Amino acid sequence: FSDVENDLAEVLLTESDIHEKIAELARAIEADYDGEKLLVVGVLRGAVMVMADLARELKLPGLEMDWMAVSSYGAGTQSSGVVRILKDLDSDLEGRKVLIVEDIIDSGLTLSWLRANLESRGAASVEICALLRKPDAAKVEVDVRYVGFDIPNKFVVGYGLDFAEKYRNLRGVAVLAPHVYS
Ligand code: PRP
Ligand code: MN
Ligand code: MG
Repeated sequence: FSDVENDLAEVLLTESDIHEKIAELARAIEADYDGEKLLVVGVLRGAVMVMADLARELKLPGLEMDWMAVSSYGAGTQSSGVVRILKDLDSDLEGRKVLIVEDIIDSGLTLSWLRANLESRGAASVEICALLRKPDAAKVEVDVRYVGFDIPNKFVVGYGLDFAEKYRNLRGVAVLAPHVYS
């Protein structure tokens, strides 16, 4: 990854920071859904890493996983607020307890739209787990039950997060060096 390192200004979270936090989040989720049948919904593509690690960490018998792909960014780096479903769930949400799993809450537009959308399908409950949140970038407040880290309003990549589809496979989360996008 030596070429990649040139593109990174600063490592924010190491692989072990992340895994420690995911274990913590999993314990909180297990306590809240003890004895319940939970459906976790990962938001493609950014949430792939969090979903894979969180789902394996969760000791909840009967856990189900489903996926949605939505797009709010188009080609730009700014969220437009217009969310399109690119791939819908395969599961029926009627009466289900649903936990949306996201990599990051930036403006909050994607998740506030998504929660309302899933609630309208008759889910018994819809909660959110996000590994990262940028409080200074919020355009709408999203009520997030489980948050990993609040981070500064900088462009971050890694652990699922991309810039122009790259860097998703990094094990940690890092701030992208300005020379990459300017
Ligand atoms: C990113 C990120 C969140 C969303 C957060 O996804 O993974 O899903 O933006 O932004 P918001 O809070 O401002 O709405 P993106 O649309 O880039 O798609 P991706 O997951 O495929 O990278
Ligand atoms: Mn995403
Ligand atoms: Mg993206």
